[in-house]
Amino acid sequence: MSFLQIVVLSFYILLLLLLTIFITSQFWIDISNMKLKSKFGLPYVPTSRRRLRKIMEFAEVKPGDQVIDLGSGDGRMVIAAARAGAYAVGYELNPVLVWWSRIKIKCLGLSKNAVILRKDLFKADFSKYNVYLLYTMPWVMDKIQNRLNESKYDTIRVVSNTFQFGDIEPLKSATKEKVYLYEIKKS
Ligand SMILES: C[S@@+](CC[C@H](N)C(=O)[O-])C[C@H]1O[C@@H](n2cnc3c(N)ncnc32)[C@H](O)[C@@H]1O
Repeated sequence: MSFLQIVVLSFYILLLLLLTIFITSQFWIDISNMKLKSKFGLPYVPTSRRRLRKIMEFAEVKPGDQVIDLGSGDGRMVIAAARAGAYAVGYELNPVLVWWSRIKIKCLGLSKNAVILRKDLFKADFSKYNVYLLYTMPWVMDKIQNRLNESKYDTIRVVSNTFQFGDIEPLKSATKEKVYLYEIKKS
């Protein structure tokens, strides 16, 4: 096979992968209120590298932390947290993204401390984690906020990409990157 054929084949494989991710996300747009949703409730939009750096800076993930990404996409947040030494779990419904993130985790040798579960994020056990990484939607933020008191930890850190909680003030905000850190203490 010539170099050109390999390039063309790789291009088609990439195209097929992107198409599959798009189709399995099953987007639809509600024009009346301009909400973009997928069958799974949230569209797949990966966190950019710049924002991921800011998220990790705010989250201060360290060994011993139990981290969860609610809607883990291609696993980039889970992988970043596992690389920082934490035990990281991602909840993701899209089968292609689950498969792709599991492959990346295996190839990077992170299988011991990074796990992707093909499960609905609302069915996650909120008691187990002390660091929450989020890139969701406003209506999901409200639901998550109501569940955070289920954590067994006295203090939890939540870092959110783009969206903020309705009635909690962030401890830190990166307005340029739209990344917000919350520290929530048990009352
Ligand atoms: C905005 S993307 C964020 C992806 C990743 N966390 C990142 O920051 O790059 C949201 C992800 O949540 C997934 N998702 C949507 N609804 C979900 C649900 N109910 N349970 C689990 N995952 C869900 C989507 O498939 C999508 O991959």
